[in-house]
Amino acid sequence: MKLTVVGGGSTYTPELIDGFARLRDVLPITELVLTDPATDRLDLIGPLSRRIFARLGHPGRITTTTDLDAAVEGADAVLLQLRVGGQAARLQDETWPLECGCVGQETTGAGGLAKALRTVPVVLDIADRVRRTNPDAWIIDFTNPVGIVTRALLKEGHKALGLCNVAIGLQRKFAALLNVDPAEVHLDHVGLNHLTWETAVHVNNENVLPRLLSDHGEKIAADLRLPLPVLTTLGVIPSYYLRYFYAHDEVVREMRTKPSRAAEVARMEKELLTLYADPTLDEKPALLAERGGAYYSEAAVDLAAALLRNAGSQHQVVNTLNNGTLPFLPDDAVIEVPAAVTAKGATPLPVNDLDPLLTGLMANVTAYEDLALEAALHGGRDRVFRALLAHPLIGQYAYADRLTDDLIAHNREHLTWA
Ligand code: G6P
Ligand code: MN
Repeated sequence: MKLTVVGGGSTYTPELIDGFARLRDVLPITELVLTDPATDRLDLIGPLSRRIFARLGHPGRITTTTDLDAAVEGADAVLLQLRVGGQAARLQDETWPLECGCVGQETTGAGGLAKALRTVPVVLDIADRVRRTNPDAWIIDFTNPVGIVTRALLKEGHKALGLCNVAIGLQRKFAALLNVDPAEVHLDHVGLNHLTWETAVHVNNENVLPRLLSDHGEKIAADLRLPLPVLTTLGVIPSYYLRYFYAHDEVVREMRTKPSRAAEVARMEKELLTLYADPTLDEKPALLAERGGAYYSEAAVDLAAALLRNAGSQHQVVNTLNNGTLPFLPDDAVIEVPAAVTAKGATPLPVNDLDPLLTGLMANVTAYEDLALEAALHGGRDRVFRALLAHPLIGQYAYADRLTDDLIAHNREHLTWA
């Protein structure tokens, strides 16, 4: 089995390698290719990855290349984890929206739109090349914004699924709180990528969500940095991305006084690259745990195992076409829900009726994602403005107008039409 990682020079890669090595029985990789335009990164991360495989006794071969076509040749699955413009572009996304009093975040709001505009054309070009070389390969997209990027891939008919670690992270967290094995915890997880809620938490066919909230509500709310009554009133557990909606102004005030996440991550990346250069290092460093990507290797292994060898967990949370699963959204919307995954792809499990508090916001953000994709595919100031006006965290003409100009001004080098 051959796997290719596009953006293999990411400082996150050792997390993936560690998961591949530990879970080799679930996903027996014989060849792993890391591809990236940055040779300096590949030259550090390739050898470290080989050392991790060697220490954990993984017999698979790891190679590195800047040649994408060669990298995907014969691959069974291609993982996308690239970041167009790197942390420098992210820093912009997190900064200029704040000047309008809007959240500055890598995937939510105007910053997320900027990221989508930079990323969708690049990912579609990569996917076209994958399909030309290797039409049977599965594309697993980690590249943010995962909802919009996956929607672009599916619209163009690619064999793709989107993946995020929010659901697996909550599954592990609830398992720890309940003191049970994570495999016993099944989430009713619903929404769009980075706009999700847990509406039930099943352990042994019992919905333990009410118990989780009564026994551990304070802790869960504190971790989300939301007041407990928000959770108890909703009767569901939102993902931490919902804080950008439920506490938008509070978040903006904080963001204006604290260093940005991009700056923190850039500092960590520098330190990580120094660590990776140490030829005696043969494990993922503890510092990597301070990044947001916990368990993403487990999620990737599980999904690839289900797609490629009908193994792994039977039901997995993925980003895929709605196709009537959520009847209040268009069929071509991309939703993030538990699905049955086989070699044929993902089939969402049925979803129970949902509270209008959830469906209203989902419908609103779906409309934004639709318009965001139009802007990413076809460009133009008007399309950017329409997407921003549709976003529930923007919504006012004057803000959308100014943010449109700011977005274009800060991203000109990445936008062919600007
Ligand atoms: C979580 C999200 C990812 C996001 C990451 C950011 O893992 O699910 O989509 O990219 O956090 O983490 P970072 O360490 O870059 O802030
Ligand atoms: Mn994510």
